[in-house]
Amino acid sequence: MERNTLAMVHDFLRQHVHSGALCIDATAGRGRDTALLCRLAGPDGRVFAFDIQQCALDQTAALLASEGLQAELHLDSHANMNHYALAGSVDCIVFNFGRLPGGDPMIMTRADSSVAAVKAALELLKPGGVMALAIYYGGANGYGERDALLEALRGVDERHYSVLCCDWRNRGGDPPMAVFVWREM
Ligand SMILES: C[S@@+](CC[C@H](N)C(=O)[O-])C[C@H]1O[C@@H](n2cnc3c(N)ncnc32)[C@H](O)[C@@H]1O
Repeated sequence: MERNTLAMVHDFLRQHVHSGALCIDATAGRGRDTALLCRLAGPDGRVFAFDIQQCALDQTAALLASEGLQAELHLDSHANMNHYALAGSVDCIVFNFGRLPGGDPMIMTRADSSVAAVKAALELLKPGGVMALAIYYGGANGYGERDALLEALRGVDERHYSVLCCDWRNRGGDPPMAVFVWREM
C-alpha cells in the first residue's frame, strides 16, 4: 500500500467532510483537493477555492467541469479568505502549500501569507470543524515557511483547537508533512 502525505490528507477529508458541508480549498492548484471537497460536500454543500494564479483556477475549473462538479473559484490570496466566509461558519479547510506543478517555479506559497491564512482559517472553522495542511519543504522551497507554520501552530490555544503534526521519521529527503487541526466543540 502506498502511504503518502496527500493520501493521508484525503483519507482525513473523507472521514470528516459530510454532505452539505461548507469547505475551503486554500490552494486550488490543479484542483484535485477542490474536486474531492466538492464530491464529499455534494450538491447541498458549498466549496470555495483560492489561488493567486489564473492558470491554476483555469485548471481547477477544467477538472471540475470534467467531473460535473461546481465550486466558487476566487483569484485572491488565501490570506483574504475571511472576506468570503463568516467566522465560525466553515466545516473544513485544506491547504496544500508549495508550487503549482508545471507552473511558474517562482510563484509559491510564502511564510507571511501562509501564516496569516492559517490564522484566518482557524477563526473561520466552526466548532467541530477541521483543517488539513500538506507542508512541502526543503529543496527550492527551503525551510522558512515550514518553520513559520509550525511555530504558529505551536501557539494555537489548546482549549479550543487540537493540532497534530505528522512527520515521517524513516524516509529520506524532505517528505511533506501532514498537519491536522480540529476545532473543539
Ligand atoms: C501545491 S499547489 C496546490 C495543489 C492543489 N491543492 C491540487 O490539488 O492540485 C500550491 C498552489 O498554491 C498557490 N498559491 C501560492 N500562494 C498563494 C496564496 N497566497 N493564496 C492562494 N494560493 C496560493 C499556487 O499558485 C499553487 O497553485
